[in-house]
Amino acid sequence: MISLLGNETSANHLYTGLQAMLADVVPDFELRMKADLAADINRLKVERNAVILGHNYMEPALFHSIPDYVGDSLDLARQAATTDKDIIVFCGVRFMAETAKILNPGKTVLLPSKNAGCSLAASITAADVRELKYKFPGVPVVTYVNTYAEVKAESDICCTSSNAAAVVESLKSETVIFLPDEYLARNVAKETGRHIIFPTKEPHSASEAELDYQMIGWRGRCEVHEKFTLDDIANIRKQFPDVVILAHQECSPEVVAASDYSGSTNSMIKYVEQTKAPRYLLLTECAMGENIAAANPEKEMLRLCSVRCPHMNQITLEETLASLQKDQYVIEIPEEIRARAARAVERMIAIG
Ligand code: 13P
Ligand code: SF4
Repeated sequence: MISLLGNETSANHLYTGLQAMLADVVPDFELRMKADLAADINRLKVERNAVILGHNYMEPALFHSIPDYVGDSLDLARQAATTDKDIIVFCGVRFMAETAKILNPGKTVLLPSKNAGCSLAASITAADVRELKYKFPGVPVVTYVNTYAEVKAESDICCTSSNAAAVVESLKSETVIFLPDEYLARNVAKETGRHIIFPTKEPHSASEAELDYQMIGWRGRCEVHEKFTLDDIANIRKQFPDVVILAHQECSPEVVAASDYSGSTNSMIKYVEQTKAPRYLLLTECAMGENIAAANPEKEMLRLCSVRCPHMNQITLEETLASLQKDQYVIEIPEEIRARAARAVERMIAIG
């Protein structure tokens, strides 16, 4: 999605634009400061021939002011694949910036914070994937994009939450290894009618081999989405009987089943935009609800902001300005790993 103010370099115009969307929730002097920072960033972006990609979880003032494109992981990977700019600044987390570098080895890719990780990406290593391949020879490996380049390099194809089931089906394989998100894997297994197992670190046991399974998973979890429970949903529905609840695919299958809709961040945004309910609640990073409310003032979004992604929240306007001023933090991936990871990412993008 093209962002509304991403090309604006006048602090006054940025202030007016932000005020129109955020005046009810952000104090005026804060909006002025953010508009000044955004104007500096947008001017520098033009000078340096850079593009800014912003994930849907960015805080509202940043989300609505500096990215040229905003979207979910798949959307942003596609934008990264087609940009003609020299520099890509990724307002998201490390695995997303790495994906941009994997697709653009000749460009400079900057991530504004060193600490923008991801619990899913940290849950698995390339050696773990090699062990699984050894244990289940010939079984294709589907890897969620929420992984680092070394893990992607060991994979046959990547997926995001918006195309995971389609990617699994595209392989036309009786069995697939699906890594590393346990809950996304369980949700995809349910959707595609497959039985999933989670092997231990022990050598391949007879009981595992004898089991009838079509998916092999890993026990990685998103530290944000694993926190939502059935009790939370029951309590919310008791307090707001007419609320429509949307859950990200990284939530547990039980939470997804008890929600009214589930999908990627983009598809949740579309769902809210295209439906008419008295109020909505998103079971995902809280900033996204604020971004939807800012762009669609007629929509009532309940807030659930005690659950936040500490990694996405590392990215601020201040850090983004410093990133463009000082070329920090440059994403580097050894060519041998990048080239192998690119095959898996490009194969995913080709699926559409
Ligand atoms: P999306 O691909 O749906 O944007 O999800 C990315 C993510 O990290 C969700 O936690
Ligand atoms: Fe990773 Fe979860 Fe944060 Fe998304 S919300 S970046 S999956 S820790």
